[in-house]
Amino acid sequence: MNEFISKYGKWALITGASKGIGLEFSRQIAAKGLNVVLVARSENSLGLLASSIENDYAVKTRVVAADLTEADGIVQLFETTADLDIGLLVNNAGREDSGPFLQIPIDDAIKTIDLNIKVPLQLTQHFAAKMKARGKGGILIMSSIVAFQGVPNIANYAASKAWDLVFAEGIATELKPSGIDVLSVNPGFTKSELSPDINFEGLPIKPMSADAVVKTALEDLGRSRVSVPGRVNKFLYYSGKYLQPRRVNTAAFGGVFRRVLRNKLEGQDAVESSQTSHS
Ligand SMILES: NC(=O)c1ccc[n+]([C@@H]2O[C@H](COP(=O)([O-])OP(=O)(O)OC[C@H]3O[C@@H](n4cnc5c(N)ncnc54)[C@H](OP(=O)(O)O)[C@@H]3O)[C@@H](O)[C@H]2O)c1
Repeated sequence: MNEFISKYGKWALITGASKGIGLEFSRQIAAKGLNVVLVARSENSLGLLASSIENDYAVKTRVVAADLTEADGIVQLFETTADLDIGLLVNNAGREDSGPFLQIPIDDAIKTIDLNIKVPLQLTQHFAAKMKARGKGGILIMSSIVAFQGVPNIANYAASKAWDLVFAEGIATELKPSGIDVLSVNPGFTKSELSPDINFEGLPIKPMSADAVVKTALEDLGRSRVSVPGRVNKFLYYSGKYLQPRRVNTAAFGGVFRRVLRNKLEGQDAVESSQTSHS
């Protein structure tokens, strides 16, 4: 039996498995020989991924197509996995709302809180209790580089990711004596479908690959409590932590997001000024 299976058991569960970073977690965990439960809303994408994982890695898969922000979705997930020993939980599903806070529909902002905070809270309590009874397990929680300070034009998302980070740090200490490794994963910009409004054109910013983010996270699990992948992100993390006051970090990250979101922000400014001129 390989080291990863002996440490975390035979089954892993990945939320947000249908694309982006979650798809990559699903493939890399299956490549280590674990069976995987794949969770997201898009049943077709999950089905295709399940077949390709079974072919490529000779492991078992189980698909749960559910909206995790709905109470029924959580019940469906718990019922569908009741017979499995989930030893590795990857709380990856997430959503982002960007733009001036006053222009974000409040229902969208609350959905972000539901998916980024309420869902990992519910899943972690449910599966960690079983891991504790077994005396081993691993839990990853997707946070972000924006979690270390407030960030204008993405304030609610950054605050939700700060919750993920602080929650992971707290339970990492609580659950360590029970043999459970907890890791907060804090990437910077990563290639995925999370942020269609972000535009890197003409900027010296390159998003990392999901592959590299996941590889670093799986290496860090059990060795550290916070995973910051990539040299640029590590530089931002350590300089933000030790060299600069927090408000300087807020201004610096605010500047970056003003640039990558410039198309959206300019569009919203135009709508606002035409509304003002008609009123
Ligand atoms: N990309 C980045 O730059 C970046 C940086 C730092 C942190 N992160 C974090 O990394 C995680 C993964 O993001 P990503 O970049 O891979 O985004 P993505 O490509 O948009 O993937 C998001 C995943 O979450 C699933 N999902 C969304 N809403 C859901 C819901 N209500 N119920 C169940 N599943 C749902 C999506 O699948 P369906 O649409 O099929 O439901 C998809 O599989 C997030 O927590 C994000 O905050 C991303």
